[in-house]
Amino acid sequence: MQLLDGKLLSTEILAEMAAEVQQIVAVDSKRPPHLVAILVGANGASETYVASKIRNCELIGFRSTLVRFPETVSQAELLARIIQINSDSDIDGLIVQLPLPAHISAEAVTMAIDADKDVDGFHPSNFGKVAKGLDGFIAATPLGILLMMERYKLETKGKHVVVVGRSQIVGLPMAMLLQRNAYPGNATVTICHSHTRDIEEMCASADILIAALGKPNFIVPAMVREGAVVIDVGLQRVADASKKSGFRLAGDVDFEAVAPKTSYITPVPGGVGLMTICGLLANTLKAYKANYKAKYGADDQPTINSTLHP
Ligand code: GUN
Repeated sequence: MQLLDGKLLSTEILAEMAAEVQQIVAVDSKRPPHLVAILVGANGASETYVASKIRNCELIGFRSTLVRFPETVSQAELLARIIQINSDSDIDGLIVQLPLPAHISAEAVTMAIDADKDVDGFHPSNFGKVAKGLDGFIAATPLGILLMMERYKLETKGKHVVVVGRSQIVGLPMAMLLQRNAYPGNATVTICHSHTRDIEEMCASADILIAALGKPNFIVPAMVREGAVVIDVGLQRVADASKKSGFRLAGDVDFEAVAPKTSYITPVPGGVGLMTICGLLANTLKAYKANYKAKYGADDQPTINSTLHP
């Protein structure tokens, strides 16, 4: 069993981006890429995710702005702010952290973001481009997983990939991407969800099993084929009285029990979560280049060393 080490890999990819930002700012005398994150309310997990996104922006020399709204903000007020950011050419990327309070439509918010600044890749225009094999923003988590597969040179052609979870931000785009005629891709993909019959057998038939359903320790050894690659997208707080914080982080896979059966597996934490940050920041750098080019006519350097970001 070999760990798919998101910590190591994300450090490597972030360093590549930091070197490029250094070149942009110090040598080319251009402004750095700028990401704006909007956070509504005070959801503990969202606070942690957004703080990590902002911290990593700073780490690699991006400018970042956190815009906070109270839980009670109206949808109209939130949309007005998004529209204002859309027209600000000094901002390259905009994300609105999900989930949103029940009185705000995540769909309306997602649709309001300028597709050229949609570095989460949630806008239907980007989702549609990815479906058609065109150059749009790939959602950060699937992009992070593709980068991980690429850097670890995992074979995907002809493999049976089982994606557990059909969310629009992970499961569905992941399945779409892995069946396309490219690398990583050319896999035969099955999506499983809460109504799938014989889900255990389905998972056990996977060469590559991607768990993205949000149920701690759902994947147990009986659901994993000997030698399979297991990628765990889950990240939940579960109560643990032995910890000072009162909780520990758990993925969708029972790591301790499953790991010995696998050829490769992602740990939680230290796996997909950090790759998601890489995906987001790679998208922001890509948005910056497109924005800068539109405004000033800039270079055609690849964003990072990957065929996924030409
Ligand atoms: N909530 C959970 N994951 C994500 C993500 O990747 N982006 C945003 N905006 N919200 C999320």
